[in-house]
Amino acid sequence: MATNKYWSIIFLIAAALATSVSAKVFIVGDEKGWTLNFDYQAWAKDKPFIVGDQLVFKYAYGKHNVHKVNGTAFQQCSIPPTNEALTSGYDVITLATPGRKWYICGVGKHCESGGMKLFINVLSHAPSPPPPSVYPGKVILVGDEKGWTLNFDYQAWAAGKRFYVGDKLVFKYPVGRHNVFRANGTAFQQCIIPAANEALTSGYDVITLQTPGRKWYICGVGKHCQLGLKLFITVLPYPTYVPPPYHRS
Ligand SMILES: *[C@@H]1O[C@H](CO)[C@@H](O)[C@H](O)[C@H]1NC(C)=O
Ligand SMILES: *[C@@H]1O[C@H](CO)[C@@H](O)[C@H](O)[C@H]1NC(C)=O
Repeated sequence: MATNKYWSIIFLIAAALATSVSAKVFIVGDEKGWTLNFDYQAWAKDKPFIVGDQLVFKYAYGKHNVHKVNGTAFQQCSIPPTNEALTSGYDVITLATPGRKWYICGVGKHCESGGMKLFINVLSHAPSPPPPSVYPGKVILVGDEKGWTLNFDYQAWAAGKRFYVGDKLVFKYPVGRHNVFRANGTAFQQCIIPAANEALTSGYDVITLQTPGRKWYICGVGKHCQLGLKLFITVLPYPTYVPPPYHRS
């Protein structure tokens, strides 16, 4: 329940941010503009160009121009004879379709020896942001308000609950009355106190679930385990995060 609430809040925040999504204007070469001896591929690298965005080629009027070409012409720095150049010195190109786009300068040898060529890949929509690297986890009080105690059905309690890596189990009990041993499946079945493991005895024992898989916990006091003070859970990898609409700054 708490988890759902948490993600709902995240989603609401993300949805609010998403409404501010708008097309982006890229000044080619940033403050350098469209100029000789600038590495436009390095500039373009990792920039997300998306349909609707605009490229602005900025340069001193008359010094350069901009030809939209195909991949071959880009490679060979050949100006298509029928191609009209943009020459305003502040040429705005709206990226209308997805796919690869090539632009070169058609003045002198600016493309061949001046590096004035730009290749970009335009995406149809924004890429999904990566999932958050850390699942915040939730705190699960074993047995809820009953805590860790006799005469409680922990399997019934655990049934239907989802335990994820990163969640914390809290075993709560009066100090000295019970304890908590991590056990294996056999020890759990047979209520064998694992000699090699140390008991948790604080009365508020917090166990962070570190790995997915089956986990077993038993009380090592008297015959408490035989009486049912034992918990078996299956821990799942952390929940798959459904990314909200991409927000572009
Ligand atoms: C690429 O452009 C050149 C120059 O305009 C043209 O000759 C050639 O046919 C084009 N190639 C393709 C595959 O469109
Ligand atoms: C399970 O735990 C018991 C008690 O600590 C131990 O004797 C046994 O070797 C363990 N079995 C496995 C398969 O680890």
